[in-house]
Amino acid sequence: MNIASELLKWKGKAEITVKAPGRINLIGEHTDYNLGFVLPAAIDKYIYFAFRKNNSSEEVNLKSLDFCDEYTALLSNIQKSEKTWANYMLGILSQMLNENCLISGFDCVIGGDIPIGSGLSSSAALECGFAFGINKLFGLHYDKMGIAKLGQASENNFLGIKSGILDQFSSVFGKQGHAMKLDCRSMDYEYIPIALKTHSFALINTNVKHSHLTSGYNDRANTCFESVAILNEKIGNIRSLRDVSIEQLNKNKNYLSVIQYKRSNFIINENLRLHSFVKAMENNNVTDMGQLLFETHIGLSQDYEVSCEESDLIVNLSKLEEPVVGARMMGGGFGGCVLLLCRNEGKKDALDRICLKYKTQTEINPEVYHVNLVEGVSLV
Ligand code: GLA
Repeated sequence: MNIASELLKWKGKAEITVKAPGRINLIGEHTDYNLGFVLPAAIDKYIYFAFRKNNSSEEVNLKSLDFCDEYTALLSNIQKSEKTWANYMLGILSQMLNENCLISGFDCVIGGDIPIGSGLSSSAALECGFAFGINKLFGLHYDKMGIAKLGQASENNFLGIKSGILDQFSSVFGKQGHAMKLDCRSMDYEYIPIALKTHSFALINTNVKHSHLTSGYNDRANTCFESVAILNEKIGNIRSLRDVSIEQLNKNKNYLSVIQYKRSNFIINENLRLHSFVKAMENNNVTDMGQLLFETHIGLSQDYEVSCEESDLIVNLSKLEEPVVGARMMGGGFGGCVLLLCRNEGKKDALDRICLKYKTQTEINPEVYHVNLVEGVSLV
């Protein structure tokens, strides 16, 4: 995409251009805001940005190619608008202004190929690419972690989503051919090469996005935080579900509601599964990796209750296909992509069969994506 020429046609010559990738998450779902571990990788689907300063002290002109839409904001009065795509960018501006950044007027065009609402974090790419570009354009002080944290803070404070750092971290810190094991409490991370010999990952987009994504997400986060408060009273020294063992959870089960117990149980097990998955990956044990993915899906669907009929259907259909060794819904939930781990031999036919059956049963056209693991946000 020649994003600079789009800015030229609209306002004038670009000073900088940026691209920010989407992400997959191999395992470790909903563990980030519970200060556990995640295992994401940045993928070769991007949002592109072109920026130029304009002569105004406070006029910010934004244009989305994908939405064929424009929005003008004034730096002295940044507020949520009725345009969702613009709000992700306004959130970054608001956060930067709160942090006393010196910014003046500028123009920015965006466009990309990360399918929206598919669980591939187009929103984090939008936030992080935008923050990265402004940081460069105005010579601000943010380092990589600062950019990721700006994105998360803007979701938490401006958009009212209680999200963790998974998506923004992935879009900023991605590394070619690698996944990243991130400890969401200490923010320590490790790059792990993905070099499977006979197998590879694929995505099937259910092409459904259920509207209760934000409310459902915040509800899950609140339930976890309530459980932490209760368990802290009973056990002491519990600041997040990260601090609770399965034994402790079971011992204190009676103090929790059924929902609090089920959701906490999922999170604690999901962290354990992530460590087993990393070990299996290091040993090239794809059977164990696949099994763990199926287990995560059952937990997400039955205990955490963030799946939906369509994602469950893809996972169930994939269990009938011998080349598919594991599958699970990915991301926040309520639709979006399913991640599959497949043997390369027979992979294409298996994916075709799953898609055909899905389409027959739902009358929805799914999409298959084969993605490469790439570097995080950068200038282009
Ligand atoms: C969304 C959120 C992330 C993370 C995932 C679930 O993508 O933005 O912070 O919680 O859901 O793992």
